[in-house]
Amino acid sequence: MNKNKVYIETYGCQMNLADTEIVLGILGDKGYDLTKSVNDADVVLINTCSIREKAEQRIYGRLGYFKNMKNDKPELIVGILGCMAERLRKDLMEKKSIVDLVVGPDEYRRLPELIDAAYNGDKGIGVKLSRTETYDDIIPHREDGLQAWLSVMRGCDKFCTFCVVPFTRGRERSRAINSVVDEIKQLSQRGFKEVTLLGQNVNSYLDNDKDFADLLSACAEVDRSFRIRFTTSHPQDLSDKLLYTIAGNQNICNYIHLPVQSGSDRILKLMNRTYTIDHYIKLIEKARRIIPGVSFSTDIISGFPTETYEDHVKTLEVMREVKYDGAYMFKYSPREGTKAYRMKDDITEETKSKRLHEIIDLQQQISYQINQTLIGKDEIVLVEGSSRKSDKFFAGRTDTNKVVIFPVNDDIKVGSYVTLKINKATHATLFGDFVEQENVTNNNLALIA
Ligand code: 5AD
Ligand code: SF4
Repeated sequence: MNKNKVYIETYGCQMNLADTEIVLGILGDKGYDLTKSVNDADVVLINTCSIREKAEQRIYGRLGYFKNMKNDKPELIVGILGCMAERLRKDLMEKKSIVDLVVGPDEYRRLPELIDAAYNGDKGIGVKLSRTETYDDIIPHREDGLQAWLSVMRGCDKFCTFCVVPFTRGRERSRAINSVVDEIKQLSQRGFKEVTLLGQNVNSYLDNDKDFADLLSACAEVDRSFRIRFTTSHPQDLSDKLLYTIAGNQNICNYIHLPVQSGSDRILKLMNRTYTIDHYIKLIEKARRIIPGVSFSTDIISGFPTETYEDHVKTLEVMREVKYDGAYMFKYSPREGTKAYRMKDDITEETKSKRLHEIIDLQQQISYQINQTLIGKDEIVLVEGSSRKSDKFFAGRTDTNKVVIFPVNDDIKVGSYVTLKINKATHATLFGDFVEQENVTNNNLALIA
């Protein structure tokens, strides 16, 4: 029997989605076929996330399911990839004996060899971290579509005290600018319309003397009808040059994900975030001056060790001051190996939940208020496809990353740009009516404004 069908599930951040495409690119080259049905699979891979305890628990639950499958089909190979592979290699191999393969984020090139080893009854382990691996030359397996992920750098050197990423993904390293630009050319030729450049800390991107702003302008030049997004930015490294580059290129989206984590300088110091709220607010003000209409999203952690009620109130104050368009909000989760893990996790679950709910409620109010101000205004969206709820409606996204729902119309094509007049808004979604088609073509800069 030809054992070559691979099924993969991906958890966690966009980086993992991009890594899954790299993994499938590597396996595709060796003759493996992707299957969408776990029951057809010869090899089951789970690309995992360790960022919070809950993410890992969910994945352990999935492993239990695959264990049952393996009882009926003992020849099935089950492999763990990604951050949990890096963090829990021993535990996974020894205690969770259903796992045949444990492969960390920098060893995916060895997957074919490690799968072969697993077929031969050996355990396939590849968990070395690399200072150089960027998978520059690998062509990721991407389904046809409009939007693509593209990792431009890997790892993180920031060592925020709560975060496991520097341990699971290793040191920062960047892909060559030319290889990124070439990949965007291919995406544009294939009919893609948008790419999100990914890195844990994209502002640290460096290819010889070329920084992230240089990379962004090189990407934006490829095709002016092609949108460029990026994530994640660290408040310490968001340079003026980068802000001017966003402002100067219409197809670089006016949207910055700029995690604040906490509104309290004391907590930020304990988190090793290396900026103060004063610096952060001034940065936001500067960005708004340089890029009119720029939108911001953030990450917030509630209940970091020693967080007082006053610290929590400062977080709410920053949220009110900045008025984020969106936020990803989490309860603090201690991660073994990090510096914060050595601090007492002294905020009770009840307090963490209460504070988190206050943060979520406030963000919903802010998003609602911001979205109300858009009613009656015209917005240009990229038409992404049918809305999730009904095929009588399309969903599109503005430059500032807001989803707009609008009635299907025979003249509107998926992948085109249209102007909509906003007529209704909730905290999460805008609704609009078709105004006109936008003729955005390559090198037609002015029309994406
Ligand atoms: N607990 C809670 N949230 C965390 N994050 C990272 N580590 C932790 C943790 N230990 C959040 C941060 C980060 C986002 C990706 O996940 O807000 O920006
Ligand atoms: Fe983690 Fe901080 Fe690096 Fe982000 S910048 S990946 S939160 S260590």
